Amino acid sequence: MEFDLNRLIRPNIKSLTPYASARDEFKGTARVFLDANENSLGSPLTKWYNRYPDPLQWELKKRIGAIKNIPAENMLLGNGSDECIDLLLRAFCEPALDNIVICPPTYGMYEVSAHINNIAVKTAPLTPSYQLDLDALQEVVDANTKLIFLCSPNNPTGNSLNRQDIEVILNNFEGLVVLDEAYINFSRQRSFVPELQDYPNLVILQTFSKAWGLAALRLGMLFASPEIIAVLNKIKPPYNINQATQELALKALDHLEDVNAMIRTLVAEREALTTQLFQIPIVTQVYPSDANFLLVKVENAVALYEYLKKKGIIVRNRSNVILCEGCLRITVGTPEQNAELLESIKSYSSDLS
Ligand SMILES: Cc1ncc(COP(=O)(O)O)c(C=O)c1O
Repeated sequence: MEFDLNRLIRPNIKSLTPYASARDEFKGTARVFLDANENSLGSPLTKWYNRYPDPLQWELKKRIGAIKNIPAENMLLGNGSDECIDLLLRAFCEPALDNIVICPPTYGMYEVSAHINNIAVKTAPLTPSYQLDLDALQEVVDANTKLIFLCSPNNPTGNSLNRQDIEVILNNFEGLVVLDEAYINFSRQRSFVPELQDYPNLVILQTFSKAWGLAALRLGMLFASPEIIAVLNKIKPPYNINQATQELALKALDHLEDVNAMIRTLVAEREALTTQLFQIPIVTQVYPSDANFLLVKVENAVALYEYLKKKGIIVRNRSNVILCEGCLRITVGTPEQNAELLESIKSYSSDLS
């Protein structure tokens, strides 16, 4: 397969002269900065925050790169992965002409973000065992399909997609394959990051919102070839990652061991929760999970959802989602929260019998 990135870029983006911020035009050190209309006196917080942040976040990208063994040039940071998804759609999909392909049940923002941008969404649903249906995918892809979104481990099903299936798509699709690895740190499967060099059409999304425990900072990572990153840098808002987020993320990266300990705890809790849920009579299925949540099939999901809500425990009702009929999606909590959840489901179950 001959991959041609130029063919994928929207014509108006190809010809766009990007905004040049003050910090783009002058990058060195100087004594006096009077070029960006900042408040020269300072701020009510600390001196630092009166200055615009580094638009390309080099220090942070280098630190992330050192941990993940990936050059900073292969990286774009977004205001959450959700911003990365939106940037991909706006760079590569012509509204009212191009389309994307998603594999439901999957993360809802691919579709919503596409619709916001007036981009058609085609679907190739997962098989009943929540794996890719390669025949369905092949059938639905057409000349205007620019992006295929794959999510592994997948939300809301929790499982990883078969590696070989992902490779088949990477080897045969002439558009970009966006592989969302938001939950990769909880997975038994390896990340595709080491494979980036082999696939010019691969885009990987990861996030600080899950394993890193920093959902409030809004920091998503996109890994791809420097050529793809250059297109996205052209259209991203100049200062999309604020100074506070850049500083706090750098601090968090000093605590890799603490994060790994949290991951081990959450994975152990996930496995214990799976075993214990299976013992409750109204639970008919607990799907194997590579993420920090479980998809659980129960008798009368809506009633259990309401019961838990009354007890102050909120889970996600996924029972109206394709292939998830009768299912609740439950995030793994602290050991105490998980014990409380189990007690409540048990008492609901025994009330019924
Ligand atoms: C698969 C997947 N991708 C991305 C996100 C969003 O990540 P972020 O918080 O970085 O926008 C989520 C959040 O639930 C998710 O489940």
